Amino acid sequence: MCGIVGYVGAQSALDVVIAGLKRLEYRGYDSAGIAVLADGELANAKKAGKLVNLEKELVGHPLPAGSTGLGHTRWATHGGPTDVNAHPHLDNSGRVAVVHNGIIENFAALRAELAGRGHRLESETDTEVVAHLLAERFSATGGGLAEAMRQVCRRLEGAFTLVAVHADEPDVVVGARRNSPLVVGVGEGENFLASDVAAFIAHTRSAIELGQDQVVELRRDEVTVTDFHGAPADVRAYHVDWDASAAEKGGYDYFMLKEIAEQPKAVADTLLGRIDASGLLTLDEVRIPAAVLREVDKVVIVACGTAYHAGMIAKLAIEHWTRIPCETELASEFRYRDPILDQRTLVIAISQSGETMDTLMALRHAREQGAKVLAVCNTNGSTIPRESDAVLYTHAGPEVAVASTKAFLTQLVACYLVALYLGQVRGTKWGDEIEAVIRELSDIAGAVDTVLETMEPVRRLARSLADKDTVLFLGRHVGYPVALEGALKLKELAYMHAEGFAAGELKHGPIALIEEDLPVVVVVPSPRGRSVLHDKIVSNIQEIRARGARTIVIAEEGDEAVVPYADHLIRIPATPTLLQPLVATVPLQVFACELATARGNEVDQPRNLAKSVTVE
Ligand code: F6R
Repeated sequence: MCGIVGYVGAQSALDVVIAGLKRLEYRGYDSAGIAVLADGELANAKKAGKLVNLEKELVGHPLPAGSTGLGHTRWATHGGPTDVNAHPHLDNSGRVAVVHNGIIENFAALRAELAGRGHRLESETDTEVVAHLLAERFSATGGGLAEAMRQVCRRLEGAFTLVAVHADEPDVVVGARRNSPLVVGVGEGENFLASDVAAFIAHTRSAIELGQDQVVELRRDEVTVTDFHGAPADVRAYHVDWDASAAEKGGYDYFMLKEIAEQPKAVADTLLGRIDASGLLTLDEVRIPAAVLREVDKVVIVACGTAYHAGMIAKLAIEHWTRIPCETELASEFRYRDPILDQRTLVIAISQSGETMDTLMALRHAREQGAKVLAVCNTNGSTIPRESDAVLYTHAGPEVAVASTKAFLTQLVACYLVALYLGQVRGTKWGDEIEAVIRELSDIAGAVDTVLETMEPVRRLARSLADKDTVLFLGRHVGYPVALEGALKLKELAYMHAEGFAAGELKHGPIALIEEDLPVVVVVPSPRGRSVLHDKIVSNIQEIRARGARTIVIAEEGDEAVVPYADHLIRIPATPTLLQPLVATVPLQVFACELATARGNEVDQPRNLAKSVTVE
């Protein structure tokens, strides 16, 4: 949420910052702004709406050339998406500019205090107070912008990433972070600050991860990191293992289309190096010793949105393969219900971004209660893995489209690996099945590829439903979270009323929604293995069809029982039951993406949303 870029070097700050903001626009697109230091003065421009509005403004009113600057793309929290509320915010002298991601909880008190000292604050944002406080501390201490930032941060409550410049320090950019992301890009004779490495990956792949409550001062050849009291801080440098092309559309109309197409590779990459030649899992990177995993008597999964759906499927896998009781909980609810946790509880926090505040708060709560936390995460250098006891990275590469696709499939793979690994180290009675599933997992990327090759009828079907108001999704067992995920994708992309139900619940209420020609997508479990469940869902399809529903059936190749009741049949390859979501979800992603396009919606940047939700 909110994208931030800072730059100091020899290039045009305007060009570097605008290019960086383009790569961060997925984090928020309510407004955009930039400030540049040139000839001892600070110049800025900001505009409500997407970055393109700011770019148009800059054509009409160009900024002077300078090589130190910062920029922001906003997801509004305090104050509507107007020009005045857009970042950067300046103090009354116009010499300090600051951009911010997060929420400053004590801003009202600070604002009153500043007004009492004669400051004029113009916006409705919480951020503006920081510009004024920085200007005051800069003048009062004479210790430079970094010292002013440290003093101001000590007064702030809440979550914040801040980046600031001061016209009196033309070759300095200062950043600070608490609970919101900020990474340093280290170049040659130039340095960068950004919410995400994507903003500077075209210039450097050397990054530094900033810790909690740290302030960083960037000069062209120097990066200095301290805590909020000025003590030197330990930082971790790392190499970004993907290049700029990974964050480009690469010929696709939308990032989402590219990311859907990348799923076979993402799945294969997430498995790579984790299964040895004898078919055993080698998850040495999970630093929790096998002896500790053998003692685990409860698993709790915390996550939000799409990652939560991955967690619902993980629960079924973990309980089946390990016989350890497992709960999956919305991270935003978790710490408010006084959950029962202790040293024998393993908490799994699933997050693509590694920055979701609800998930972060849930894992902190779990660790405070003594539980061990394992993060399943896609973003190296992010907060959630850093604060966990161990991490299993998904290797999806950067996910730019706001609607999650490839991250979901790789989260599933990582969760299966965790479940199978737990089963392996604990030696459960499902040993043979575990070995067979590990073998099947090795072929699963090919199965995802097969699904992608047969999506044209799904696209045609989606276009034909563009004028519908409602689509329902039904599933049972692992098909239920898949149904929820299909409905979530449709809501966020097509802005349609879409709901997922456990098919067995239909008769307990939702069946009243069924009316003539209502599209209902049904995810059918394999007729092999759990055939009772299969037969029950075939009955559910008949029940809704008898009441006029238009049935869209997702069923495994060779499942003939569904044929008479399917108005539209989408075939997926046969897989072991628990792995079916890896193939069954893909048609639902394609369906939602195509419907969004047909309805004229912005696929990569749906309204009101932002990727990486860094506020609770
Ligand atoms: C939906 C979507 C969101 C995220 C959720 C968690 O398409 O992308 O529901 O899954 O905000 O985000 P992460 O995984 O970054 O914690």
